[in-house]
Amino acid sequence: MQGENPVSREWERRWAELKEEISHCLRCPLSQTRTNAVPGEGSRGAVVFFVGEAPGEKEDLAGRPFVGPAGRYFDRLLPLAGLIREEVFVTGLVKCRPPQNRNPRAAEIRACSEYLCRQLELIAPRLVVPLGNFALKEFVGKKFSITQVHGQPLDKDGLRYFPLFHPAALFYNEKLRQEMEKDMESLRRYLRSFLSEQPGGKRTHTRPRSLKGDTR
Ligand code: URA
Repeated sequence: MQGENPVSREWERRWAELKEEISHCLRCPLSQTRTNAVPGEGSRGAVVFFVGEAPGEKEDLAGRPFVGPAGRYFDRLLPLAGLIREEVFVTGLVKCRPPQNRNPRAAEIRACSEYLCRQLELIAPRLVVPLGNFALKEFVGKKFSITQVHGQPLDKDGLRYFPLFHPAALFYNEKLRQEMEKDMESLRRYLRSFLSEQPGGKRTHTRPRSLKGDTR
Protein backbone atom coordinates (compact mmCIF):
# COMPACT_ATOMS: atom_id res chain seq x y z
CA MET A 1 0.00 0.00 0.00
CA GLN A 2 1.32 3.44 -0.94
CA GLY A 3 2.69 5.43 1.99
CA GLU A 4 2.95 2.39 4.27
CA ASN A 5 6.06 2.53 6.47
CA PRO A 6 8.42 -0.32 5.47
CA VAL A 7 9.93 -0.48 8.99
CA SER A 8 6.48 -0.94 10.43
CA ARG A 9 5.63 -3.55 7.80
CA GLU A 10 8.80 -5.48 8.63
CA TRP A 11 7.93 -5.28 12.35
CA GLU A 12 4.44 -6.65 11.69
CA ARG A 13 5.91 -9.45 9.59
CA ARG A 14 8.35 -10.47 12.33
CA TRP A 15 5.65 -10.23 14.99
CA ALA A 16 3.20 -12.37 13.02
CA GLU A 17 5.94 -14.91 12.30
CA LEU A 18 6.83 -15.15 15.99
CA LYS A 19 3.20 -15.63 17.05
CA GLU A 20 2.77 -18.31 14.44
CA GLU A 21 5.91 -20.14 15.61
CA ILE A 22 4.77 -20.04 19.22
CA SER A 23 1.32 -21.30 18.29
CA HIS A 24 2.75 -24.35 16.54
CA CYS A 25 5.76 -24.87 18.78
CA LEU A 26 6.85 -28.45 19.51
CA ARG A 27 10.04 -27.63 21.42
CA CYS A 28 8.98 -29.18 24.71
CA PRO A 29 6.48 -31.73 26.05
CA LEU A 30 4.01 -29.00 27.10
CA SER A 31 3.04 -28.84 23.43
CA GLN A 32 1.49 -32.31 23.81
CA THR A 33 -0.92 -31.31 26.56
CA ARG A 34 -1.83 -27.70 25.71
CA THR A 35 -5.10 -26.66 24.14
CA ASN A 36 -3.66 -23.39 22.88
CA ALA A 37 -0.28 -21.75 23.23
CA VAL A 38 -0.46 -18.33 24.89
CA PRO A 39 2.03 -16.03 23.15
CA GLY A 40 1.06 -12.93 25.14
CA GLU A 41 -0.58 -9.70 24.12
CA GLY A 42 -0.61 -5.96 24.52
CA SER A 43 0.58 -2.79 22.95
CA ARG A 44 3.28 -2.81 20.33
CA GLY A 45 4.57 0.43 21.86
CA ALA A 46 4.44 -0.83 25.46
CA VAL A 47 6.84 0.91 27.82
CA VAL A 48 6.17 -1.68 30.54
CA PHE A 49 6.50 -5.41 29.82
CA PHE A 50 5.06 -7.84 32.40
CA VAL A 51 6.32 -11.42 32.54
CA GLY A 52 4.40 -14.01 34.54
CA GLU A 53 5.04 -17.68 34.93
CA ALA A 54 2.91 -19.96 32.74
CA PRO A 55 -0.65 -20.05 31.44
CA GLY A 56 -3.33 -21.59 33.63
CA GLU A 57 -6.52 -23.38 32.64
CA LYS A 58 -8.47 -20.35 31.44
CA GLU A 59 -5.49 -18.99 29.52
CA ASP A 60 -4.91 -22.37 27.86
CA LEU A 61 -8.54 -22.48 26.72
CA ALA A 62 -8.58 -18.89 25.47
CA GLY A 63 -5.02 -18.68 24.08
CA ARG A 64 -4.75 -15.36 25.94
CA PRO A 65 -2.70 -14.36 29.01
CA PHE A 66 -4.13 -13.49 32.42
CA VAL A 67 -7.80 -14.08 31.70
CA GLY A 68 -8.49 -16.27 34.76
CA PRO A 69 -9.01 -15.17 38.38
CA ALA A 70 -5.39 -13.96 38.73
CA GLY A 71 -5.82 -12.01 35.51
CA ARG A 72 -8.94 -10.31 36.83
CA TYR A 73 -7.04 -9.25 39.92
CA PHE A 74 -4.14 -8.10 37.73
CA ASP A 75 -6.58 -5.88 35.80
CA ARG A 76 -7.71 -4.33 39.07
CA LEU A 77 -4.12 -3.75 40.21
CA LEU A 78 -2.89 -2.08 37.02
CA PRO A 79 -4.78 1.23 37.47
CA LEU A 80 -3.06 1.66 40.85
CA ALA A 81 0.14 2.00 38.83
CA GLY A 82 -1.62 4.36 36.41
CA LEU A 83 -1.74 1.67 33.74
CA ILE A 84 -4.34 -0.20 31.74
CA ARG A 85 -3.99 -3.57 30.05
CA GLU A 86 -4.15 -2.15 26.53
CA GLU A 87 -1.02 -0.03 26.95
CA VAL A 88 1.29 -2.65 28.48
CA PHE A 89 2.53 -6.01 27.22
CA VAL A 90 1.82 -9.19 29.16
CA THR A 91 3.29 -12.63 28.63
CA GLY A 92 4.76 -15.58 30.51
CA LEU A 93 8.09 -17.33 30.82
CA VAL A 94 6.54 -20.35 29.17
CA LYS A 95 3.80 -20.08 26.60
CA CYS A 96 2.02 -23.39 27.24
CA ARG A 97 0.15 -24.58 30.31
CA PRO A 98 1.96 -27.09 32.53
CA PRO A 99 -0.40 -29.99 33.39
CA GLN A 100 -2.37 -29.39 36.63
CA ASN A 101 -0.70 -25.97 36.80
CA ARG A 102 2.52 -27.48 38.14
CA ASN A 103 5.60 -25.25 38.14
CA PRO A 104 7.33 -24.92 34.78
CA ARG A 105 10.50 -27.04 34.58
CA ALA A 106 13.93 -25.61 33.85
CA ALA A 107 14.04 -27.36 30.46
CA GLU A 108 10.63 -25.92 29.52
CA ILE A 109 11.70 -22.41 30.49
CA ARG A 110 14.89 -22.87 28.49
CA ALA A 111 13.02 -24.16 25.45
CA CYS A 112 10.72 -21.11 25.53
CA SER A 113 13.30 -18.44 26.38
CA GLU A 114 14.15 -17.64 22.79
CA TYR A 115 10.53 -16.58 22.19
CA LEU A 116 10.65 -14.25 25.17
CA CYS A 117 13.93 -12.74 23.97
CA ARG A 118 12.44 -12.10 20.54
CA GLN A 119 9.37 -10.49 22.09
CA LEU A 120 11.61 -8.21 24.14
CA GLU A 121 13.60 -7.26 21.06
CA LEU A 122 10.47 -6.42 19.11
CA ILE A 123 8.65 -4.49 21.84
CA ALA A 124 11.86 -3.00 23.34
CA PRO A 125 10.13 -1.82 26.53
CA ARG A 126 11.81 0.52 28.98
CA LEU A 127 10.90 -1.51 32.03
CA VAL A 128 10.43 -5.24 32.57
CA VAL A 129 8.20 -6.30 35.46
CA PRO A 130 8.84 -9.90 36.52
CA LEU A 131 5.72 -11.24 38.24
CA GLY A 132 6.71 -13.75 40.92
CA ASN A 133 9.80 -15.76 41.72
CA PHE A 134 10.10 -17.72 38.50
CA ALA A 135 10.32 -14.68 36.26
CA LEU A 136 12.45 -12.78 38.77
CA LYS A 137 15.07 -15.52 38.92
CA GLU A 138 15.25 -15.90 35.15
CA PHE A 139 15.80 -12.20 34.62
CA VAL A 140 17.91 -11.08 37.52
CA GLY A 141 19.39 -14.22 39.07
CA LYS A 142 18.73 -17.19 41.30
CA LYS A 143 19.89 -15.49 44.49
CA PHE A 144 17.00 -13.01 44.39
CA SER A 145 13.72 -13.73 46.11
CA ILE A 146 10.47 -11.94 45.35
CA THR A 147 9.70 -11.53 49.06
CA GLN A 148 12.89 -9.48 49.39
CA VAL A 149 12.88 -7.37 46.23
CA HIS A 150 9.21 -6.83 45.32
CA GLY A 151 8.01 -3.28 44.84
CA GLN A 152 11.38 -1.70 44.18
CA PRO A 153 13.42 -0.98 41.05
CA LEU A 154 16.38 -3.16 40.25
CA ASP A 155 19.08 -2.62 37.62
CA LYS A 156 20.88 -5.57 36.09
CA ASP A 157 23.32 -5.39 33.20
CA GLY A 158 22.08 -1.91 32.37
CA LEU A 159 18.44 -3.06 32.12
CA ARG A 160 15.67 -1.96 34.47
CA TYR A 161 13.32 -4.22 36.37
CA PHE A 162 10.54 -3.67 38.88
CA PRO A 163 9.68 -7.08 40.39
CA LEU A 164 6.19 -7.66 41.77
CA PHE A 165 4.39 -10.57 43.42
CA HIS A 166 2.54 -12.71 40.91
CA PRO A 167 -1.16 -11.71 41.17
CA ALA A 168 -2.05 -15.36 41.93
CA ALA A 169 -0.03 -15.06 45.18
CA LEU A 170 -3.09 -13.36 46.67
CA PHE A 171 -5.03 -16.64 46.47
CA TYR A 172 -2.43 -18.38 48.62
CA ASN A 173 -1.98 -15.55 51.06
CA GLU A 174 -4.73 -12.96 51.44
CA LYS A 175 -2.43 -10.96 53.74
CA LEU A 176 -0.37 -9.96 50.69
CA ARG A 177 -3.19 -7.81 49.30
CA GLN A 178 -2.11 -4.62 51.01
CA GLU A 179 1.50 -5.10 50.03
CA MET A 180 0.61 -5.87 46.44
CA GLU A 181 -1.47 -2.73 46.21
CA LYS A 182 1.28 -0.66 47.82
CA ASP A 183 3.76 -2.06 45.30
CA MET A 184 1.57 -0.86 42.42
CA GLU A 185 1.57 2.62 43.89
CA SER A 186 5.37 2.45 44.15
CA LEU A 187 5.47 1.39 40.51
CA ARG A 188 3.34 4.40 39.61
CA ARG A 189 5.75 6.77 41.39
CA TYR A 190 8.75 5.05 39.84
CA LEU A 191 7.30 5.24 36.34
CA ARG A 192 6.46 8.89 36.80
CA SER A 193 9.99 9.73 37.93
CA PHE A 194 11.94 7.75 35.40
CA LEU A 195 9.73 8.62 32.46
CA SER A 196 10.04 12.31 33.28
CA GLU A 197 13.83 11.94 33.79
CA GLN A 198 14.16 10.76 30.19
CA PRO A 199 10.92 11.53 28.37
CA GLY A 200 10.79 9.43 25.23
CA GLY A 201 14.15 8.07 26.36
CA LYS A 202 16.00 5.22 24.80
CA ARG A 203 14.22 1.90 24.85
CA THR A 204 16.82 -0.32 26.38
CA HIS A 205 15.32 -3.74 26.80
CA THR A 206 16.64 -6.11 24.25
CA ARG A 207 17.95 -9.50 25.36
CA PRO A 208 18.75 -9.78 29.04
CA ARG A 209 22.02 -11.69 29.28
CA SER A 210 20.74 -13.72 32.19
CA LEU A 211 17.99 -15.47 30.21
CA LYS A 212 19.03 -18.96 29.33
CA GLY A 213 19.01 -19.71 25.65
CA ASP A 214 20.44 -16.27 24.94
CA THR A 215 22.42 -16.86 21.80
CA ARG A 216 24.29 -13.58 21.55
N1 URA B 1 1.96 -16.31 32.72
C1 URA B 1 1.15 -16.29 33.79
O1 URA B 1 1.61 -16.32 34.92
N2 URA B 1 -0.17 -16.24 33.55
C2 URA B 1 -0.68 -16.18 32.31
O2 URA B 1 -1.85 -16.08 32.15
C3 URA B 1 0.19 -16.20 31.23
C4 URA B 1 1.49 -16.26 31.45
